Amino acid sequence: EIFSPLKTSPITLLLLDITPMLPVLEGVVMELQDCALPLLRDIVPTDKEEVAFKDLDAAILVGSMPRKEGMERKDLLKANVAIFKSQGTALEKYAKKTVKVLVVGNPANTNCLIAAKSAPSIPKENFSCLTRLDHNRARSQVAMRCGVPATHVRNVIIWGNHSSTQYPDVHHCMVNMSGSELACFDAVKDDAWLKGDFIATVQLRGAAVIKARKLSSAMSAAKAICDHMRDIWSGTSEGEFTSMGVYSSGNSYGVPDDLIYSFPVQIKDKSWKIVDGLAINDFSRLKMDATAAELIEERDTAVSFLGV
Ligand code: LMR
Repeated sequence: EIFSPLKTSPITLLLLDITPMLPVLEGVVMELQDCALPLLRDIVPTDKEEVAFKDLDAAILVGSMPRKEGMERKDLLKANVAIFKSQGTALEKYAKKTVKVLVVGNPANTNCLIAAKSAPSIPKENFSCLTRLDHNRARSQVAMRCGVPATHVRNVIIWGNHSSTQYPDVHHCMVNMSGSELACFDAVKDDAWLKGDFIATVQLRGAAVIKARKLSSAMSAAKAICDHMRDIWSGTSEGEFTSMGVYSSGNSYGVPDDLIYSFPVQIKDKSWKIVDGLAINDFSRLKMDATAAELIEERDTAVSFLGV
């Protein structure tokens, strides 16, 4: 049991990497030790799946094949299908059936779907992918625009894929301005920005960070992983929802089934539930469908590699 609401549960971290990276992993172990984290009781670095996945309560799958110059999207998918099929199979074999699996490595939604399909005895609901980073980005952009702290902005939504087709939606977002809550459009008072540059900024933020840092996001991704896992363990606050990529069974918001699609969710007793009944206008509908179409294409390509 980790991340209890009382924040008193000790944890053991099992760190899996490929054999050539084990010396580097030793450096990570040293840094973790040097953090003197109050609840971290043990750290086990390993290159063996049977060690890393044994009796896991929570799995955070961050490793994936990054896109290299000249690499086609298809080649990238093929390499990642191999990785996430192997990790899904290891979860099936060694982890607890109650394990909660968070996929971070890109393309996160499709990698998550492949891992879930490769672990048929673990409920699909136990798998999710990270769109909390996009959610936090959207929240922060609105907060900066309104001159309020990010905590004064609630219920932004990320729909769809963790890619540039994602749809950051503020139609149900509320902003606390000097003590009273306003609908986001009334608080920002700039519909053109909310329907244009705001969306593009959030969609392209990962690429912008890479351009500036020459490296992918790290600190913000780590923070989003913590937020996501904490919410799974401790639940979301009353009246607030978050975004995560979860298994679509085809029953919500007209999103096709058998996709890992980011929805607004509320979490209680370690179970997520898609927030239902939100009004969807034509503007939103088009964007939600476009990101679903990309996910269908990714899934179909990835699944064609499953048997290979
Ligand atoms: C991000 O959103 O920051 C990353 O997913 C970008 C990337 O491709 O690593």
